[in-house]
Amino acid sequence: RPEILGLFRENVFGVVPDTKYEISFSTINEDRNAINGAATLKQIDIKIESGGKSLIIHLTLFTPNGKKKKSPVFLLIDNRGPANTDPLRKVKSEFWPVEEAIARGYGMAVFYNADVDPDKHDEFKNGIHAVLDKGPRPDNAWGTIAAWAWGASRCMDYLVTDKDVDGSRVAVVGHSRGGKTALWAGAEDTRFAIVVSNESGCAGAALARRRYGETVARINTSFPHWFNANFKKFNNNEDALPLDMHMLLALIAPRALYVDCASEDLWGDPAGSYISLYKSVPVFNILGAKSDLPEVMPPLNKQVMSGKVAYHVRDGVHNMLLKDWNFFMDFADVVMK
Ligand code: GCU
Repeated sequence: RPEILGLFRENVFGVVPDTKYEISFSTINEDRNAINGAATLKQIDIKIESGGKSLIIHLTLFTPNGKKKKSPVFLLIDNRGPANTDPLRKVKSEFWPVEEAIARGYGMAVFYNADVDPDKHDEFKNGIHAVLDKGPRPDNAWGTIAAWAWGASRCMDYLVTDKDVDGSRVAVVGHSRGGKTALWAGAEDTRFAIVVSNESGCAGAALARRRYGETVARINTSFPHWFNANFKKFNNNEDALPLDMHMLLALIAPRALYVDCASEDLWGDPAGSYISLYKSVPVFNILGAKSDLPEVMPPLNKQVMSGKVAYHVRDGVHNMLLKDWNFFMDFADVVMK
């Protein structure tokens, strides 16, 4: 595991600097009567301070009321902006279906990735890079996806302290670029009990060597800030990679892993993501999370679950919808309730 994790740090996502920092949590709003009394809402400022600089990650958390036990929670890495995650629930979005999750006994947490690092190529002058980076950046220095994943771990630092949350049952969820980030967060931080990768595609669940949909060269050209400088060496040169993405999925074992895609999202490569998941299964088996995932992917809108891994292809376009969340919760009902 350390060797494979090191390969991904070195060649894809980058290494987090070992700069010392302070972290503190302030609850800026608490409503124990949210969603008509069904839930408790907390809004927490997570402050990171280092060398006179600071940054705040705004975490929103809903937990179900009236339960004897602490709740399992889904933490969404939101790459679409606060419009999808209204804490007042005036605006409801299937991207983060809080009411439905609360009704099923799950807490829902979310942070906006741009709080940690803006999603633009700014030479790493802003966000957490401006707080923690020191001196010139080596070719393996962390990129923006690694920064967002690090942010998910700082949210986890808070969640394990919350008396309404069961810190041993937190799932990290992400869509698309957020899905790549969820996989990397779960690889780096074994406190996440489930990782959900929704339509993560290139540099996510999809195998790089298939060169299907988005390729390494395309993603590095459009989004150079997501990865470290070393990853650019593999543009049009996937065979030189000392890894492929099934090894990233294997880093989640023996914890639980959900991969899903949408039928019209060819950029996300549903078939390549399934092969990748299938090829990660031997590691789940070695680590005692027995799975006999079939070699052939399931039909449209049907979920396959085996041991600690699960997969589906939803009909339609690139998005994360209630249909997807219901499948995630069905899986969580089995692996972490
Ligand atoms: C772009 C990018 C993908 C990414 C997607 C998203 O299409 O090329 O790699 O997954 O944005 O985040 O929606």
